[in-house]
Amino acid sequence: MARVLIIGGAGRMGQALVAALLDKSVPGLELAGAVDLAGKPEQGKDLGLLAGRGPANLFLSSDLSAAMAQADLFIDFSFHVGVVERMRLLADAGSKAAVIGTTGLTAEEHAGLRALAVRMPLLFSPNMSLGVNLLAALVEEAAARLKGRGYDIEVVETHHRRKLDAPSGTALGSGWELKKVQRDGRSGVAKGERPEQEIGFHALRAGDVVGDHTVMFATDGELIELSHRATRRETFAIGALRATAWLATQTSGRLYGMKDVLGNAECGMRSAE
Ligand SMILES: NC(=O)c1ccc[n+]([C@@H]2O[C@H](COP(=O)([O-])OP(=O)(O)OC[C@H]3O[C@@H](n4cnc5c(N)ncnc54)[C@H](O)[C@@H]3O)[C@@H](O)[C@H]2O)c1
Repeated sequence: MARVLIIGGAGRMGQALVAALLDKSVPGLELAGAVDLAGKPEQGKDLGLLAGRGPANLFLSSDLSAAMAQADLFIDFSFHVGVVERMRLLADAGSKAAVIGTTGLTAEEHAGLRALAVRMPLLFSPNMSLGVNLLAALVEEAAARLKGRGYDIEVVETHHRRKLDAPSGTALGSGWELKKVQRDGRSGVAKGERPEQEIGFHALRAGDVVGDHTVMFATDGELIELSHRATRRETFAIGALRATAWLATQTSGRLYGMKDVLGNAECGMRSAE
């Protein structure tokens, strides 16, 4: 059994991951512990009880350096600031592998993870669900087929009111070169017609929505919409655990993504990011 430590353990995703590990949702993985920021009211509490399960006899801690020794594998669903430092700490200690689901990473933070991936197996994905990764493949195909044919692309995403980053990591994907064409929201009076090269992003924040994404391709006379709706956080948790089990069998070298885990058979995508 490989022992897994959750970073961001008191959060919504952290709790879903703890519950999925205690439920033994993915064979070969067991809960080693969880860390979160000092000062959280959940500090010192039993992780099983926090996640709505029976007592696990493991307690939320704020000391990653100390908790690291209890685990082989690591999953970070917390906050982008400090993510590179956290992964460096793990790499310096010779840890086996880490999966990062935290979104809102800057280009520098992403580059930092890519550099560390040479030393330790690392996987980053802004969305761990099979369905969203299939959606990404369908969007890539549609975009390639419609390119230069007068179709405008707009992306609409909706998430719960507590989500901090916008647009969502899923909407943006891993393509920071997107910045050249990205247009966030629209207000005021435009100077002219919408340029075809632009991609509009619209972030809605409301209620407890787990995660909805729609990509729209529209031209005069027709509209294509490709959509995905996540209805339960467990979808991402199970995806992250499957990614962790897969990553434990890989060598370091480059930053992996969900495409590598899911492969062609499951989502029809090219295997390398
Ligand atoms: N990749 C995916 O499939 C996926 C799915 C859902 C959410 N997310 C992302 O995962 C992250 C967490 O989402 P959430 O909804 O659970 O948020 P959340 O706010 O409920 O939980 C985040 C937790 O991380 C903790 N935290 C912050 N900085 C920390 C640090 N330095 N060390 C340890 N813990 C720290 C916070 O105290 C909090 O408890 C966000 O970036 C979100 O966008 C990714």
